[in-house]
Amino acid sequence: MSRILKTQIKDYTKEMDINFFCILRQFINMEMMNNIINKVNYFNEKYPYDEGLNPYISNKKRRTNNLYSDFGSEKDIMKNWPEEKREGMLDKYYDVRKEMGKELNVLLSSIFYLLKKRQWKLIGITSFDVYPGCSEQEIHIDMPGILPKDITRYYVSIPLHETKKNMGPIIYYKESMIKEFRKFHNHNESYEGVIGHLNSLKWEIKQLFLNAREQYEYKLGDISIHRDITFHNGGTNNSNKIRRFLFIVCDVRN
Ligand SMILES: [Fe+2]
Repeated sequence: MSRILKTQIKDYTKEMDINFFCILRQFINMEMMNNIINKVNYFNEKYPYDEGLNPYISNKKRRTNNLYSDFGSEKDIMKNWPEEKREGMLDKYYDVRKEMGKELNVLLSSIFYLLKKRQWKLIGITSFDVYPGCSEQEIHIDMPGILPKDITRYYVSIPLHETKKNMGPIIYYKESMIKEFRKFHNHNESYEGVIGHLNSLKWEIKQLFLNAREQYEYKLGDISIHRDITFHNGGTNNSNKIRRFLFIVCDVRN
């Protein structure tokens, strides 16, 4: 009898292809996780919260701190800012990249190795605080604009504590079950990437999204990944605790 341990390695590439999201369980070890948590806490105390929220959806009872940004539009965004504010922001980006860059590179390298992507670039890090009572967001995608044809944008969400469903972790909609809807929807002109609240949708469309809907709980060290056109939304935080997660954005060459 073979003594070789048969480890079943999930095909995450396939999962991403089919569902447009995947969950990696126990992906970050506790040492790295604690480092990440400590650094995020440190930066959130050191630098004032900067609300880099998605302007197309409601953001009540949510706060964000945009810790690092290299999307390419920074110069334009900051050009009319007072010098002090601009310098402060650039210092923050530099500081965060210097302090967290190494760890995140290790982490992102393993993620994209699993997803069989060779070329990727870290372009954003944001810390999110979702307060008790924050209600479910509109179903949306995170990248309503158009990316170059050879680029796919990936988003990695790292819960910063154990996250039960009543804390409102992200809700994903399996692409395989809403393909038909997307075909129809892509022809819609006034498209900002927002579909609307689940309960506000037309009955037939709501059924599609209800069937495709998945919400998972997370242990510390579990992460989730979605992409530019994944339909998703934050859930309701029905707990009495703040839900915190780190959100990392990467552009990946196809
Ligand atoms: Fe989102």
